[in-house]
Amino acid sequence: MKEKLIQRYTRPERINHWVVALCFVLLAISGLAFFYPAFFWLTGVFGTPQLARMVHPIIGVVMFLGFARQFLRYWRHNFFSGDDFKWMMSVWKVLNGHEVGDTGKYNGGQKGMFWLMTACMLVLVVTGIIAWRPYFAPHFPIPVIRLALLAHAWAATVLIAGIIVHVYAAIWIKGTIRAMVEGVVTQAWAKKHHPKWYREMLAKSQQQSGSDKP
Ligand code: HEM
Repeated sequence: MKEKLIQRYTRPERINHWVVALCFVLLAISGLAFFYPAFFWLTGVFGTPQLARMVHPIIGVVMFLGFARQFLRYWRHNFFSGDDFKWMMSVWKVLNGHEVGDTGKYNGGQKGMFWLMTACMLVLVVTGIIAWRPYFAPHFPIPVIRLALLAHAWAATVLIAGIIVHVYAAIWIKGTIRAMVEGVVTQAWAKKHHPKWYREMLAKSQQQSGSDKP
């Protein structure tokens, strides 16, 4: 029997997500190379260390703009509800395969991650611009640039740890990667992991098929 599918992400949303993900990987590689001498060889990915240094802030701006588009699209779905706190309090049950609470489009963990990503992105872009030589840094006193670089490194470390969890969770829950690759999920996936969202999508499609009738 053919499984029933529900659209979760449109093509532009998916392209946007993977552009952000690619930027993130390039930024993490070049950032780690600048930060730890042991990783300096990673600048080879960009050809030369000078090129890596030149493109790092530009890729950063592209990632920020891509994420800003994601933010504008998803922030409404990421407000916490009582069910999300229930989910978070029972995360061990969830890890053992038992869903908890009436979860909407995103669960408590995804929502927490969304706001963590947002905070890191804001810190990264503001501190990155302050430290961007030769364009912006000369306008700031040296102690401010030093503090900015410290905050930049901290935000990057937190974001890298967060994205490791994000990727792990996407692989852990079978059928989730498909949402961001093909744009669809199975009805069974939606019913199990996001029951409230499933009901909303069902009501929407029933409404649409009702209004399609002559
Ligand atoms: C590098 C590997 C990555 C993989 C494999 C991955 C995978 C996924 C998948 C499968 C989803 C869909 C989840 C669902 O609909 O339930 C998703 C959603 C999302 N991803 Fe990623 N992702 C990656 C990197 C990133 C990065 C670097 C960012 C941003 C810094 C990011 C931001 C988001 C956002 C904002 C969503 C929307 C869902 C939400 O609000 O939680 N992803 N990702």
